[in-house]
Amino acid sequence: MEINRNTIIKDLIESHPETLAVFKKYNLVIAGGVRGPNEPIAFFAKAHEVDYDTLVKELKEAVEKGGGEHVVIPRLEEDKVYGKFVKTAIVLTLTVGVTFGALVLSYIAIKLDFDSVYYALIQAHGHAQIYGWVGLCIMGFALYIVPRVKNTELRHRGFANVCYLFAAAGITLRTVVQPLPYSSLRFLLPVSAILECIAILLFILIVLRTILASKEKIGIYDKFFKAGIIWFFISTCMNMGMVCYLYRHGLYEIPRRFFSPYVHLYLFGFVLMFIFAVNIRTVYAFLDIKPVREKAVNLTFWIMNICIPIYFASHFFADENVVAYRLSQAIAFPIGFALLTFVFGLRVFERSTKELDDVVMDRSYAKTIRTAYLWLIVTAGILVVMPFLEDGSEIQQRFHGSLNHALTVGFITMMIIGYASKMIPTFKGINMHSIRLSNITFILLNTGCFLRVFSQIMVGVNGKTIFYVTMGTSGWFELAALSLFGYNLWKTMNFVQETKPPAASQAPATVKLTEVNKDTKVFDVVDQYPDTLQIFLDFGFSQMANPVMRNTMGRVATLDMATKMHNVDLDTFLKALNGKIVEKKGAV
Ligand code: HEM
Repeated sequence: MEINRNTIIKDLIESHPETLAVFKKYNLVIAGGVRGPNEPIAFFAKAHEVDYDTLVKELKEAVEKGGGEHVVIPRLEEDKVYGKFVKTAIVLTLTVGVTFGALVLSYIAIKLDFDSVYYALIQAHGHAQIYGWVGLCIMGFALYIVPRVKNTELRHRGFANVCYLFAAAGITLRTVVQPLPYSSLRFLLPVSAILECIAILLFILIVLRTILASKEKIGIYDKFFKAGIIWFFISTCMNMGMVCYLYRHGLYEIPRRFFSPYVHLYLFGFVLMFIFAVNIRTVYAFLDIKPVREKAVNLTFWIMNICIPIYFASHFFADENVVAYRLSQAIAFPIGFALLTFVFGLRVFERSTKELDDVVMDRSYAKTIRTAYLWLIVTAGILVVMPFLEDGSEIQQRFHGSLNHALTVGFITMMIIGYASKMIPTFKGINMHSIRLSNITFILLNTGCFLRVFSQIMVGVNGKTIFYVTMGTSGWFELAALSLFGYNLWKTMNFVQETKPPAASQAPATVKLTEVNKDTKVFDVVDQYPDTLQIFLDFGFSQMANPVMRNTMGRVATLDMATKMHNVDLDTFLKALNGKIVEKKGAV
C-alpha cells in the first residue's frame, strides 16, 4: 500500500498491521476506535506534533520488514468514557434546557414582559444548561482528552461511572425540585447539591491525578486546565451554599445579586479555562494555522484569573457600596480586553499555513470554531458597553441577557458543537453521520442566536413589539439546531465499526468490482471502469480530470466522503455508476 500524506491511518493499519507498532511509538493510535484513526497521516502528525518525514520513513521500514509471527499486533480498544456524559447532556438540553428556554421566551414575547415569568424556573433552566449541557459535555470530553494530551492512562477510571451517575441525578433533581412549590419535596434540594458536589469532586480527583501522573512536558495549556478545575471546585461550593440558603429560608429564587455573577464566575472560570486549554492544544492543527502566541494567551490567563473573583465580589456588593459598584463597572474592561487578547493569541482568524492544503479531510467544523470566536468578540463588545448603561435599568437588564446568550450559545454551545463534530468521529475512527445536518445546524443556531442577541438588545433600546416577536421565535431556531445536532451526534456515537482481522502484510489483492457502494474507493471505480470518469465529471467532480488527484485523493476518498464533500446525492450517484458498470459488463 502506498504511504503518502493522505493515507488514512486505519487503512494502513488494516493492510499492514505491523505499522501499528510505529503509530503506537508516536502515540498516534490513542484515539480512533477498534480500527485506528480515520485520519490522514499528515493531519494526525501535525495534531500530535510528530515529524511527518521521520514517521513515514519508519512506517515504510516496518512495511518492508513485513509482518509474520515475530510482530506482535496489539488490539485497539475503543474508549467510550465520554459517551454517557455527552448523551445525557444532549437529553437535558433538549428537555429542560433549550425547549424550556424557547417556551419561556415565547411566553415573555407574548406578554411583552420579561418579569412575567416565575424567576425560579429561569434559574432551574440556567442550572440545567450550565451544569447539565455544558458541564457534562466538558466532563465527558475532559475524561477522554486529558489522558491523551498528557500521554498517560486515565487514573481512577472506575470512579468515572460514579461521577456520571451522581452528576446526572443531582442536576436532574435540582432542576425539577427548585421551582416546585411542594415543601414536602424541599429536602431533595440539599440532596441534589450533595450529589453534584460528590460528582464534581470525583471528576476533579480523576483529572488532577491523571495530569499529575503524566511525564509529558508541561504545556502552556496545563495551567488553564488547572485553573478551570479550581473554579469548578469554587463554583460547586457556591452552588452548595446557594441551595442550603434556599432550603433553610424556604425560598425558591436565589437572590439575583448572587446568582447572576455566580453564573459568570462558573462560565468565565471553569468553562472558558477548559475550552481555552483544549483550543490552545488543538486549534492550530484543526485550522492549519500557526501555533499560539504564548505571551498573549498567558496575559489572558492572568487577567481572567485575577479579575473573576473581583467581578463576582464587586457585582455582589454593588447595590450596597458605591466603590463596589464602580469596580463592577470598571472590571468589565480588563475582562473584555483579555477575551480579545485570547482571540489574537490563538490566531483563529489568521490565514492558514497551507501545510495541510493537500490533505483530503472533512473541515466542516472549522467554520463553527471560527464563528464561535466571532460570538466571543460580540460577548466582549456587549460586556464593555454595559458599564455605560444606567444601573438596574430595563436596557441594562436586556443587555445582560444578550451577553449571557452570546456567551453561552454563540461561543460555548457553538464550540461544543464544533469540537464534538470533529472529535467524536475521531474518537471512533469514522466520519460524522451527516455533514449536511452539521451545516444545517450551523445555519439554524447562528440564525437563532443572532435573532436573540440582537432583538433582546433592541427590546432594551426601544421596547418595540416587533423585537419581542423576533426574539420570541429565536428559541425555536436554536431548538431545531440542537435537535439536529443531537440526532447527528447520537447516530455517530452509536455507529459500531466491525473489527476486521488484521490482514496478511502483503498488498491487498484488488477485488474486481461488480457493483459500487458508499465505501468503494473513488480510485478503484475509475481504475476498473475508466468509462465512469465521465460520470464523475458530469456530477461535478472536476478534479477527477487530473490523474494525480485520482491517484492520490482517489485512493483514500470513498464515494461516501466524495459525495458529502461535494454535496452530491449519494444514491443518485451510485445509481449512475452502477448503471454504467452493468452496461460495461453487458458489453463484454
Ligand atoms: C439555546 C437556547 C436557549 C434559550 C431559548 C434560552 C432562554 C432563556 C431565557 C428566556 C432566559 C431568561 C431571560 C434572560 O435572562 O435573558 C434565560 C436565562 C438563562 N439562561 Fe438560557 N436559553 C438558552 C440557552 C442557554 C444556554 C446554552 C445556557 C448555558 C449554558 C443558558 C443559561 C441561562 C442562564 C444561566 C440564565 C439566567 C441568567 C440570569 O438570570 O442571570 N441558556 N435563558
